[in-house]
Amino acid sequence: MNPTMNRRSFLGNTTLVGAGLAASSVFAAPPAGGAKKVKVALIGCGGRGNGALANFLDACKLLGIEAEVVATGDAFKAKAENAGKKYGLAEGRCFSGYDAYQKVVATDCDYVLMATPPAFRPLHLAAAVEAGKHCFIEKPVAVDPIGARSIIASSAKAAAKGLGVVAGTQRRHQANYLRNKALIDAGAIGKIKGGVVQWNGTVPWTKRREENESDASYITRNWVNFNELSGDHIVEQHVHNLDVAVWFLGRLPIAAIGFGGRARRETGNMFDFFSVDYDFGEDVHIHSQCRQLAGTYQHVGEMFTGTEGSCYGGGKLSGKEVTVPEIKLESDNSMVQEHVDLIRSVMAGKPLNEAKSIAESTLVAIMGRISAYTGQLVRWADLVTNEQSPFYNLACTPAAIDFEKGPIKLPAEVPPVPGKG
Ligand SMILES: NC(=O)c1ccc[n+]([C@@H]2O[C@H](COP(=O)([O-])OP(=O)(O)OC[C@H]3O[C@@H](n4cnc5c(N)ncnc54)[C@H](O)[C@@H]3O)[C@@H](O)[C@H]2O)c1
Repeated sequence: MNPTMNRRSFLGNTTLVGAGLAASSVFAAPPAGGAKKVKVALIGCGGRGNGALANFLDACKLLGIEAEVVATGDAFKAKAENAGKKYGLAEGRCFSGYDAYQKVVATDCDYVLMATPPAFRPLHLAAAVEAGKHCFIEKPVAVDPIGARSIIASSAKAAAKGLGVVAGTQRRHQANYLRNKALIDAGAIGKIKGGVVQWNGTVPWTKRREENESDASYITRNWVNFNELSGDHIVEQHVHNLDVAVWFLGRLPIAAIGFGGRARRETGNMFDFFSVDYDFGEDVHIHSQCRQLAGTYQHVGEMFTGTEGSCYGGGKLSGKEVTVPEIKLESDNSMVQEHVDLIRSVMAGKPLNEAKSIAESTLVAIMGRISAYTGQLVRWADLVTNEQSPFYNLACTPAAIDFEKGPIKLPAEVPPVPGKG
């Protein structure tokens, strides 16, 4: 026992395992059949979508696989075409409109990368799986319980069809997090008894409504300020840290009690901040805290206290000396590594499927948001099994499908107010 041992001292006397230890042994397997050509398409050609496509191509290079970009899709024509142009795509292969995803999944692509606002993910993943594509789905993957349950259903369908699905929760493909997860599983900090997870930052951007702009166009451009498309920032950003909590603890929370409010956000209908107590059972509570507010203390991370030590996310770990195998990853960039792990698992005939786990982490975040918006205690069962619960079929509207059907009505740009006056 060495309660003061830090991460550096662990590195000196342990060999640690690669991504395979935390998720699946397929990570360690080489691609079957040597080099092969893969065809990839992108839905949602914004900042992350363009980044994810570049990361996918880098992953192919690392694996020695030829890759071809065969289609792009975006709600806006210019965005689909700008993304396609980089790879010499003909205009006819750059699809636009809210039904662009249908045209993308109907192409001859093997892999579809999805990086639209999260509200669209359940519909798009269902279509991609139906079309038999391997998928990369950016986090989060839903904004309401109905959407999260749809992802879980698509996950089962993907598994039955032998399709790979990897999520953009890149910490699960990052050496320092994988190492700490392995050490915790080996007993380095004993039993986790509590913790804090935080995403305290600023509003990513604010887009103003343009003259004569439709409701659909405005909400799509300014989606990070609308609960209906983003799930609010507890879902959109803080899901990363909540996912680490669920992953490190190895179980889901039983219930959440959340607070939140808004004083400064200028557009949309989201909160500025949330503070949520997650009850993980066995007297273990995780405090979740997130805020988007300029000029305030900024911090993103996770901390867990165990019976024998403590651990800061992918950072310092103090506790018992344990030995775990060495981690070997192809890339220091976890946003590349996640594609390496997806492609290699598919080529090895053992496709990784992270759809259920990211749907669950998304639902954990949604559970906190519903509690803060309503002022009520929300149980996990309210969202997954108890059909009588008022929260079970709680739907954010307009829903993804409404955008395809015709004009949508912009939700009021005011935040929810919990409780009674
Ligand atoms: N893993 C990470 O660290 C990370 C980082 C940033 C963003 N993200 C996630 O990536 C996703 C995209 O975020 P972003 O920052 O790229 O946003 P963005 O606004 O830059 O891009 C979203 C794109 O999707 C398009 N779009 C919107 N609705 C569409 C629809 N129905 N069909 C087709 N295209 C549609 C938009 O026009 C836009 O081009 C979000 O889920 C976000 O949470 C993840």
